[in-house]
Amino acid sequence: MENNYTPMAFRLKTERLELNMWEESDADWLRKLIHERGVDMPTLDATRSLIIDMRKKAFENGISLLTIRRRDEGDFIGYCGLIIGRTTLEEPEIAYELFRSAHGKGYATEAASVVLDAAIATKRSRLWSTVGAWNVASFRVLEKLGFERHHSTWNESGEIVWNKREL
Ligand SMILES: CC(C)(COP(=O)(O)OP(=O)(O)OC[C@H]1O[C@@H](n2cnc3c(N)ncnc32)[C@H](O)[C@@H]1OP(=O)(O)O)[C@@H](O)C(=O)NCCC(=O)NCCS
Repeated sequence: MENNYTPMAFRLKTERLELNMWEESDADWLRKLIHERGVDMPTLDATRSLIIDMRKKAFENGISLLTIRRRDEGDFIGYCGLIIGRTTLEEPEIAYELFRSAHGKGYATEAASVVLDAAIATKRSRLWSTVGAWNVASFRVLEKLGFERHHSTWNESGEIVWNKREL
């Protein structure tokens, strides 16, 4: 498929955070973050494969999730970025997931704001985010970024709300 968009910057900085492309060495913390979802912790090898695949797709598509590291502490707290997800390369989704220990400090909003700027720089005109109807924190982050609720769909785990942001 032809991709007419400027590739997204894969290195971003905010006051407290830096966002970067995945490295295989991120497998160690990423498997712990996945485990926090309440599922079995994937093996190191499986997580490394996931990262290799994400990197490959990032360079093919020009969009990606990026790792989030706190600049002062130097620790990884999660990821944020753009994915095709349930939508398209033209109108991708913004996504984020942080370790529980890092919640409630404004980090998701700070990371997602700079990803929003990076999406604008690719010359896209619209972003989406699909969120489980129960996920109050995620809705609040989207609201702070100027997203609006658009419509809902339903799957086996319940209502999915589609949120839209014109760029
Ligand atoms: C969603 C998530 C990334 C938010 O991260 P965060 O760094 O805590 O977000 P922020 O601190 O930037 O903003 C959260 C906002 O939600 C609010 N919030 C959080 N929990 C809330 C609750 N139960 N009720 C009401 N508001 C709530 C916070 O007060 C804050 O709003 P405020 O700035 O107006 O006070 C984090 O909860 C997470 O990683 N969850 C698991 C993964 C996930 O659900 N990802 C999104 C999938 S769509």
